[in-house]
Amino acid sequence: MREFPYEFEARKPILFYPEPVERIAGDFLEIGPGRGDFIMALAEQYPDKRVVGIELARKRYYKLIPRIEKRGITNITLLRAAAQIAIPRHCVAESFERIYVLFPDPWPKDRHAPHRLLNADFLTLLAGLLKDDGYFFFATDYRPYAEWVVENLNEVPLMAKLGNPFTIQADIADYFPSFFEQKWREEGREILYVRCRRVRPDEPSSR
Ligand SMILES: C[S@@+](CC[C@H](N)C(=O)[O-])C[C@H]1O[C@@H](n2cnc3c(N)ncnc32)[C@H](O)[C@@H]1O
Repeated sequence: MREFPYEFEARKPILFYPEPVERIAGDFLEIGPGRGDFIMALAEQYPDKRVVGIELARKRYYKLIPRIEKRGITNITLLRAAAQIAIPRHCVAESFERIYVLFPDPWPKDRHAPHRLLNADFLTLLAGLLKDDGYFFFATDYRPYAEWVVENLNEVPLMAKLGNPFTIQADIADYFPSFFEQKWREEGREILYVRCRRVRPDEPSSR
């Protein structure tokens, strides 16, 4: 993966809540949980599943911890890290049932586009984290980002895109509107969803 300030992020310490874990296995992963409305709803719905959140912003990470504790949730593992750094270092390949990326920063200006998270290399990394038949879900209010992700998915043979070209919210497992989704809906913005299934290696190609 190229377009990411690796050296800078790679030198920063990764923080863990509730305690450091060297190897993190599924079941569910949310990248960029922000205020945490979605990850907490998911964790409460599946108290027997391990729900992992990787959040880049230190402030958001520290604000989320007391919210998790206040709700008495004990099945969330939270990391303060860039997902591009934490996943290869700590996450166990093919151990996740679901990965959610909801409303990633859109970086709408052309010169900022290299900062966008869901490039083909990163989607390939996510595909490697999913179990066979696991799901990847993505939502955005920014159509050019959604179209760019759909294009990038063409370069990731392990991800079979479902829905044409986008899916509908009702198809996203256990969906609960995140803080940004609630905000953009109130403003009447269009919301686009992408849903993919991780294909089995022996499966005939659907492309
Ligand atoms: C626009 S906010 C969306 C927050 C939340 N998902 C929602 O829908 O309300 C994007 C979030 O992704 C986080 N983020 C951005 N780049 C990241 C990265 N490389 N790894 C992990 N989190 C990241 C940001 O700090 C921020 O919390």
